Amino acid sequence: MVEDRSETLLKVEEKYMPPPSIVESAWVRDYETLYQESIKDREAFWAKVAEDLHWFKKWDKVLEWNYPYAKWFVGGKTNITYNCLDRHVKNGKRNKVAYIALDEDSREKKITYGELLELVNRIANGLKSLGVKKGDRVSIYMPNTVEAVACMLACARIGAIHSLVFAGFSEGALRLRIEDAKAKVVITASYTKRRGKKIDLLATAQRAIDGLDFVEKVIVWDRDGDVLNGEDKFFVSLDELISTSSPKCEPEVMDAEDPLYILYTSGTTGKPKGVLHTTGGYMVGTYYTTKVVFDLKEDDIYWCTADIGWVTGHSYIVYGPLAVGATSLIVEGAPDYPDPGRWWSYVEKYRVNIFYTAPTAVRMFMKYGEQWPAKYDLSSLRILGSVGEPINPEAWHWYFKNIGREKCVIVDTWWQTETGMHMITTIPSYPAKPGKAGKPFFGIEALVVDRHGNVLPPNTIGNLVIKTPWPSMLRTCWGEPERYEKYWNTIPGYYLTGDLASYDEEGYIMILGRADDVLNVAGHRIGTMEVESAIVDYPAVAEAAVIGKPHEVKGESIKAFVILKKGYEPSEKLVEEIKYHVKQVLGPIAVPDEIEFVEKLPKTRSGKIMRRVLKAQELGLPVGDISTLED
Ligand code: WTA
Repeated sequence: MVEDRSETLLKVEEKYMPPPSIVESAWVRDYETLYQESIKDREAFWAKVAEDLHWFKKWDKVLEWNYPYAKWFVGGKTNITYNCLDRHVKNGKRNKVAYIALDEDSREKKITYGELLELVNRIANGLKSLGVKKGDRVSIYMPNTVEAVACMLACARIGAIHSLVFAGFSEGALRLRIEDAKAKVVITASYTKRRGKKIDLLATAQRAIDGLDFVEKVIVWDRDGDVLNGEDKFFVSLDELISTSSPKCEPEVMDAEDPLYILYTSGTTGKPKGVLHTTGGYMVGTYYTTKVVFDLKEDDIYWCTADIGWVTGHSYIVYGPLAVGATSLIVEGAPDYPDPGRWWSYVEKYRVNIFYTAPTAVRMFMKYGEQWPAKYDLSSLRILGSVGEPINPEAWHWYFKNIGREKCVIVDTWWQTETGMHMITTIPSYPAKPGKAGKPFFGIEALVVDRHGNVLPPNTIGNLVIKTPWPSMLRTCWGEPERYEKYWNTIPGYYLTGDLASYDEEGYIMILGRADDVLNVAGHRIGTMEVESAIVDYPAVAEAAVIGKPHEVKGESIKAFVILKKGYEPSEKLVEEIKYHVKQVLGPIAVPDEIEFVEKLPKTRSGKIMRRVLKAQELGLPVGDISTLED
C-alpha cells in the first residue's frame, strides 16, 4: 500500500514561490542561512531563542545529552504562565485580546491578557485550596473553551501536571488516562454541544472515576448552573472556586525540567503512552515555531481549529500563541454546523490572518463544494497551515485556491505529540511543494534511513528519524521509561518517528504515513490495539483485528475483522451493537466503519495478528513476505 501511494505522490514537482510581500516582512527571510547556522551550533541557536523569554534564573547549560535522555536549559528557572500572561501584561498588553471564544451557537466571548491572568490565578488559588500541589496530576476533560485553557494554565501556574483527555473520548478511554496518571483532581464540564446536541461530560466523568479512590475532588464547570446542588462536597463548582479565590497568585518557580503536562497518545502496542513534556524546552520550542512558522505579527488574528484535547491544541492554541502574545480564536462545536459556512463566516467576521487546520477538514469542505467559502470575504488570510496527516496534492490545491484565493502561503507542518513542536515544514518565506511537508525546522536534523540506520538515497522510502535532541522533545513516557527508550533504541542513534518518508534532490521531505499499526482517522491518532480491545470487550466477541483503509475524507477509516464466540451468529444487529459498544468505551472517533465476521485471523506462529496481511487482502495488494504466517 505504501508503494502504491508513493507512486502518485513522487510525481509531484510543482513549487510555489511565496508572494514578495510575505517574504519581505517575514521574521525569517533566509531559511538556508539560518538553518545552516542552527545546525552548526544548535545550543547557541536555541539559547538565543530562549533569551526572548523570561527566566527567574538563567540556565547554566543549554543541553545535557545523556543518550537517550536530554535536559534543556539546565538550572534555568521559569514559569510558562509567567511568559504566557504576566510578561505581556507587564509589557503594556493588559488589554490586548488573548482569545475570541465562540461556542456552537456563535455566542462570542472575548478575554484580554489581563483578564485571563486573573482568571488563571483564581483557579490556581482554588486548586491550592483543594490541596493540589506541585507535581500532582489533574485530569481535564473539558470542551474546547477558554475555561479549559484557564484550567490548564492554572495547573501550570502552581506546578501541577495537567493531563487533558479529548472531550470526544468516552468513559473507558477517560478512565484509563485518569487511572494511569493517578489524578488527584478531575476537572470537567456539565456538557459540550455538538451539532446542536448536548453531550453530558459530567455523567461520563462520573462513570469513569467510579471506584478510583485516589480522585479526591471533581471540579465541574456547571455551564447553566443546573447540575450542582452544593450538597455533595466531592463535586466543586468551578464558578464558585473562581468567585471565592484571590486574583493574585505568585507563579511557582519551576525548574526548566519540571514536568508541565502528560498527554496520552497511541502507540503500536498496548495501552496509550503518557507523553511527558517539561517546562523550559517546551516553552522555547512552541514559542519560536508559532512565531516563525506562522510568521505571527503583533496585530494578527490567528486561528488553529484543533481541539485542546490533542497536542495541536496544547502547542498551537494554548502555549505557543500565548507565549508569542497573539490574539486567537477558540471555537467549540462542529465545523459544518449549523451549515458548512460556519468557519468561513468567522474568518470574514474576525478578519483572520492565519488559519491552521487538518487535511481531513479541507477534504470535507471540498465535498460540500466551493460555493460555501465563496460566499465569504476571506481576503484577510495570509498564511494557511496544515497538520495531522499528509495533505494530498488535490486537497492542497483546493485549499490554496478556495480558501487562500491563490495569494496565501501554505505551511504543511509535520510533527507529533512526542515532538511537542513543528519539526518539518516550509516557513512562509520559502517555496512550498504541494504534497511535501518540506524542510527540517531550525535546529532539527531529520533523515530517512533503512532498518539499520543507513541513510537512504533521495526518492527512496524509508523510516523518518531525528538525529539530535530538540528542546520540546518528550522526556519520557509516564511510568514507563522503557517505552520512551524504545523511540531511541529501535534504530540505535536516532529518534524513530514511526512514519515512512522520502526526500527529493532538493531536500524536501514527503511524509507517506505511519510505518506501524497506528491509525490516523480524520487526523486523530488511534491505536489498533485500543480499538481491538474495545471490540473484544463486547461479550459476543472472541477475537478482533483492526486495519486502516484509505478514506476519501478521513484519510483512513477503520475496518474490523471479528471472530464471534461459539453460539453467536453474524448479524446486522451484532454489527450495530459492537459499533455502539466501541462508541461507549472509546468514543465516536474510534468506531469502525466496517465490521466483517470471519472464522480465522492471520497470525504469526507466536500468535501475533498479521494486520498487514489483512490489509493487503482487503486492498487487493500483494501480501508480501508471509513466511512467519502460522498456516
Ligand atoms: C501524522 C499531531 C503528514 C504523522 C501533530 C505523525 C502528519 C502523526 C503531519 C502524529 C503532516 C502529523 N503530514 N503526516 N503535516 N502531521 N502527521 O501525535 O503520521 O496526533 O506521526 O500529532 O500524525 O500524530 P499526533
